[in-house]
Amino acid sequence: MLDFILPLLGRLHPLLVHLPIGILIFGILLIFMQKKNSTGFNPVIRLAFLLGAISATLAGISGFFQYQFEGFAWESVQNHLIAGVISSIGSFYLFTRIKDETIFTSNIKLQVLALFLVLTVTGHLGGNISRGEEYLIEVLPAEIQAIAGYEAAPEKSLEIPEQGWEELVFYGEVVQPILNKNCKSCHNPRNLKGEFNLTTFEELLKGGENGEVLKAGNPELSALFAKMILPLEDEDHMPPKEKRQPSKEEIELIKSWIAAGASQNTTLGQAGVDEKLLEPFFHKEEIPFYPLTEVAAVPADTLSKLRSAGFFSETVLQGSSWLKVSCINFPGFTDSDWILLKSVKDQIAYLDLSATQVTEEILDSISSLPNLTVLKLNQTGISGRNLEALSNCKNLKMLYLNSTQLSLENLSGINQHPNLQKVFAFQTPAGESKNPVKFSFELETGNYSLPKIPADTIVY
Ligand code: HEC
Repeated sequence: MLDFILPLLGRLHPLLVHLPIGILIFGILLIFMQKKNSTGFNPVIRLAFLLGAISATLAGISGFFQYQFEGFAWESVQNHLIAGVISSIGSFYLFTRIKDETIFTSNIKLQVLALFLVLTVTGHLGGNISRGEEYLIEVLPAEIQAIAGYEAAPEKSLEIPEQGWEELVFYGEVVQPILNKNCKSCHNPRNLKGEFNLTTFEELLKGGENGEVLKAGNPELSALFAKMILPLEDEDHMPPKEKRQPSKEEIELIKSWIAAGASQNTTLGQAGVDEKLLEPFFHKEEIPFYPLTEVAAVPADTLSKLRSAGFFSETVLQGSSWLKVSCINFPGFTDSDWILLKSVKDQIAYLDLSATQVTEEILDSISSLPNLTVLKLNQTGISGRNLEALSNCKNLKMLYLNSTQLSLENLSGINQHPNLQKVFAFQTPAGESKNPVKFSFELETGNYSLPKIPADTIVY
């Protein structure tokens, strides 16, 4: 029942460690701030070292439980633990040395500085365990990383072009990037774990301390692959279990490369790689949600006019010219109020006329908005009879018609719209209809969601 206490104490370690650090540094500072030959701060300094020593010990105990229950490797924690114990003992020792009448000689100040140093080292080693050794280095500019002896530029994830991937060289353009990302930090000329360097093809062929790691045509007998599929718990598993693991597809690709002969120059096409394996790496162009065309920004006084007319209006993103206009505070909006919006018809990208008095005819006016991307007409009297008018809004992607009289039949008026992705029709006759009809867009009704017809889909 109380089994959780020790693991919990272990997990409190990252929190507890800040107590001794704070308290001891406070005490150390006081020693250096105290005037020569004065002893005024001494009671406080003693208290700081006592509390510091106690909290350092508690932190050490919790750290030990964390090590026990969270599966850290002994090699990775041992230095941190030793430094932590020295910090605790050092604090107790200084507590006993410092009396209320002690004058701080340079001898004591040196000891105090030594404690500060050990404390810093302990904290730093602890940070390396929880954040990884490269945590601080990673954010430095590449040139400084190079001076510090670290690899410039962090390894990028593998990216494969969707068109023409068959021409990529399997080893150089696929396998090596995967090895660089997952293995190189421990197997490079400077860090030769297992005496194994996998940063070039020649070195890879040489293998490590136990000989060759590749057997062309036989992945299972190739240590390079075989070690990656050992159970995570196995101490020979690569990369070691506390490290980020390669994805399933990355491992599969290494396997197919070895199966196809582990040669340096074969292309993906020649090796007959299944396109499915590559899909997760395909480079996808992000298509922005709002239109790419440029329009002039709306002048500030036009915006304030809109606001005083009762509209909520602002740009969709800071620095964008696209406007979001909503009638959330303008429920009395009717078709004839459209005239108020004419001056910004090119900029409106998001229009919310929900819960207003508009009728079917408003769609004719809306059709004059070339850049409209999101249209909300929830809780209006619209049945969709005139939805066809929206075909003119070529950029429309999202259409909301929840709680309207929209029928399935009327929805077909905008079937085949070139960009429309989703129509929301919760609580509508269309949503309640039991006869699913397929449209070129996704219909969200809360009951079921109809998939798009693949042939009609624009694939990005
Ligand atoms: C965190 C460091 C680290 C990472 C990352 C790492 N390895 Fe290792 N690797 C080691 C250590 C340490 C050894 C030596 C183990 C031993 O001798 O028991 C080793 C040994 C090996 C060996 C055996 C070499 C020999 O001849 O004994 C192979 C093969 C290997 N690693 C492959 C990989 C592959 C493939 C990856 C990436 C998917 C990888 N390693 C990532 C630390 C790492």
